[in-house]
Amino acid sequence: MKDKTVFICQSCGSRFPKWMGRCGQCGEWNTLVEELEEEFTASEASFPASEPVLYKEIKEFPKPRIQIGIEEFNKVLGGGVVLGSVVLIGGEPGIGKSTLLLQVSRDIALQDESVLYVSGEESLEQIKIRGDRLGVRDGKLYLLAETNLERILAQAERLKPKALVVDSVQTIFSSKLTSSPGTISQVREVANQIFRFAKRSQVPSFLIGHITKEGSLAGPKSLEHMVDVVLLFEGERDHTHRILRALKNRFGPVSELAIFEMAGNGLQAVSNPSAFFLKERPKDEPGSAVICAIKGARPLLAEVQALVSSTLFTGNPRRMTIGLDHYRAAMLLALVEKKAGYSFAGEDIYINVAGGMSIEEPAADLGVVLAVVSSLKNKAIPKGMAVFGEIGLSGEVRSVGQPLARIKEAHSLGFETVLLPAGNLAQIDPKDLPSLNCLGAQNVRQALQYVF
Ligand code: TYD
Ligand code: MG
Repeated sequence: MKDKTVFICQSCGSRFPKWMGRCGQCGEWNTLVEELEEEFTASEASFPASEPVLYKEIKEFPKPRIQIGIEEFNKVLGGGVVLGSVVLIGGEPGIGKSTLLLQVSRDIALQDESVLYVSGEESLEQIKIRGDRLGVRDGKLYLLAETNLERILAQAERLKPKALVVDSVQTIFSSKLTSSPGTISQVREVANQIFRFAKRSQVPSFLIGHITKEGSLAGPKSLEHMVDVVLLFEGERDHTHRILRALKNRFGPVSELAIFEMAGNGLQAVSNPSAFFLKERPKDEPGSAVICAIKGARPLLAEVQALVSSTLFTGNPRRMTIGLDHYRAAMLLALVEKKAGYSFAGEDIYINVAGGMSIEEPAADLGVVLAVVSSLKNKAIPKGMAVFGEIGLSGEVRSVGQPLARIKEAHSLGFETVLLPAGNLAQIDPKDLPSLNCLGAQNVRQALQYVF
C-alpha cells in the first residue's frame, strides 16, 4: 500500500490534500508542510501497551554509554554516547562536522565495533581522502554513499552497527514523500525514521545538519524537539579554533563545552583553552585587557582589545565590536563618558575579542571599559592583571557568578593581580583564595584608579 501524504498548515493545523502557497483556512502564506498521513494501524497498535507506574517504584539505572577516544566529545555528551540516542550536530558548512564525525567513527571502529557512515554529500573516494588525513586505517568502518532513507535504513538493519552517522540530514529523502530533500517535511521525516530505528535497535545515531549564520536552520531547527541531544559546532572559518557545545541533552548537563583546533590531521582537543587564547597577546601594549570569562561551565581567559583613534573626516565616529554585544559596548562607552569624565567625541572606537572568540556575558564589561580607556590614554594595563565584573548604569561594579573559578583560572596562568567586583571579593572566604593580589572595585572610577 502506498503511504498517503497530507499537507498541514503549520500555523492553524488545517489539512489539505495538495500543496498551496496560501492556507485556505487561516490565510497565512507558505505554511503548508507535507507530512505522512499517520495511520494508527497494525504497527502502532502492536506495541505493548504501557501501564502507569508508581513514582517511588521507578528505579534509576545508569544508561549504558559508549566512550569515544576523544575525551572532550564524551564530556560534551555528558559522559559518552548513550545507546539508542539520537544526536543532532549543527554547524555552518565547512566548519568541520564531517571531520569530527569521521574521527568519532574511527574511534568507535578502533574498539573493534562496526560503524556505518552514510554520506549523501560526498563520494566514497572523497571521504577516504579525508579519512587518510585523519589516520583512519583499520577497523570495521563502513561507508555508504546513499541519499534514499529507506535504503539507508535497510542497510543499517542488515549491518547492525554500533553507531550510525548520517551526513547530512538535508541531503537524505524518504520516497514516501513527494517533497524534495532539504524541505522541512523531508528533514523531519528522515529524523523521525532514524529516531525510531535508533530506539528500536539501540544504535546511537548522529545526524549532521547544516545551519547558516543567520540562524536560518529551517530544517535542523525544526528537529531540535525530536532528537535527544543537540550539539552546536561553532567557530570562525578563518580562525582555527572550534567550539562544540550542547544546546539540549536528555542525558546530561548542557553546560559542558569543548574547544578544538583544526589542524592538518583533523580536530585536536585544546587542553588549555585560556593559554590558547592568550598565546599571542602583546605585553605592555595599550588597549589590551585580559578578562576572566565563563564559557559553558568552564572559566576561560580571553583578551579584549580596543583601539581608539581620532575620526579622520568630520562625520559620525565609528563604533565597531567583534565578539561582543554591540549595544552593550555602546552603553559602556556612554557610561565611561558620563561617570569617569572621558570624552570619545571625535574618536573612532574598535573593540575586538582576540582569536575569534565571542563573549556574551556582562562579566566582560569591566575588561571592555579598561581596554578602551587604556587605548585612549595610550597607557598599558599592567601585564600581570586580569579583570572581571559587570557594570551597572550608575557606574557601579556588580558581582557576577563563579568568582572563585575565575580567580583560580587567572592564578593558574600566572597572573599576579585580579581586579574584581568588591561584592564578589567580600563573598569569598580568604582561606580559599589562591596566592595572588585581589583588588575589589565598587565602581568604575575606583577600578580606573587601581589600574592607571
Ligand atoms: P568538513 O569536515 O568537510 O566541514 P563540514 O562537514 O562541516 O562542512 O571540513 C571543513 C574544513 O576543514 C575543510 O575546509 C578542510 C579543513 N580540514 C583541515 O583543516 N584539516 C583536516 O584534517 C581536515 C579533514 C579538514
Ligand atoms: Mg560535511
